[in-house]
Amino acid sequence: MAEFGYDIDYAKKLLENDSLVAIPTETVYGLAANATSSIAVTKIFKTKERPSFDPLIIHTYSLDRLNDYVTSIPYKATLLTKRFWPGALTLLLPKKSNIPDIVTSGLDTVAVRVPNHPLTLALLKSLSFPLAAPSANPFGYISPTLAQHVNNQLGDKIEYILDGGACEVGIESTIIGFENALPTVHRLGGVSVEDIESIIGEVDVKPHSSSNPVAPGMLQNHYAPKKKLIIGNIDKLLQHHDNVGIISFQKQYNIQHQIQLSKKGDLDEAAQTLFGAMRQLDNEDISLIISEYVPNIGLGRAINDRLKRAAIKQ
Ligand code: TXA
Ligand code: MG
Repeated sequence: MAEFGYDIDYAKKLLENDSLVAIPTETVYGLAANATSSIAVTKIFKTKERPSFDPLIIHTYSLDRLNDYVTSIPYKATLLTKRFWPGALTLLLPKKSNIPDIVTSGLDTVAVRVPNHPLTLALLKSLSFPLAAPSANPFGYISPTLAQHVNNQLGDKIEYILDGGACEVGIESTIIGFENALPTVHRLGGVSVEDIESIIGEVDVKPHSSSNPVAPGMLQNHYAPKKKLIIGNIDKLLQHHDNVGIISFQKQYNIQHQIQLSKKGDLDEAAQTLFGAMRQLDNEDISLIISEYVPNIGLGRAINDRLKRAAIKQ
């Protein structure tokens, strides 16, 4: 099992030696390595059993560092960074050559964000390089929102987990690119489309591009529990299935294995609890998880996207 703690100096030493460290962010925990070291980044792909065609996000501590890693920043991207960084928004921008090809899977763009977590920001400030960090879960499984989730799945493969408590946002960052006339949201996430559009106007939303090699992490079957999950009208589904666990938005059901994402119907709270709920039911003695879509506004769109992907079995 990995060691847990708050020791930024220890995390820094490990990272400077090309080792991996799990780091907290406001979205989900990341599995971090020196983004400028191909040796270190290779370890991320190995540890997660992630295919090399799926590029990584790099993390830095300030908007001022962005020019170190990218060759140009469109005006709309600057507006977004000013409003949402540090925060759950990742930009795809043309990369500089100091970012090795392994990070971007050979693409010309690099994904960058400034995460909003005090421990990780302090760690990033202490380092002379950015951190490449995918979510700290085995490829395809649900992203971790607690240090313990990381330990359960990757604890025997990594030395240290920087423990920053429960992730406040709870779903991954929104990914936006500027390659077309309209900026394109490639992954729905912790910053809502409405909030983005309030800053830069209309965007294109193309999150379901499973056949699109530009965003291979958008494979349809992703963020998935091991148990089968079906989505629909929970009352109706209950009539046809036994031994189930329920993930409902607000409503309480009179069965043993059930989790309400937000009793008060708050979508931000539902985002925070979603992945933990899937994990919990995945480990309970049930044969099926049933769930329902939440209102498709604000973070509800990202929640519904994750539910849909979790429900697809290959
Ligand atoms: O919230 C987050 O974004 C978390 C935390 C740790 O920062 N990270 C995360 O990373 O979710 P990961 O690796 O699980 O997802 C990164 C996604 C992948 O779907 C990948 O395909 C996409 O970003 N991506 C990375 N670089 C890209 C690029 N140059 N072009 C298109 N998609 C890219
Ligand atoms: Mg991931």
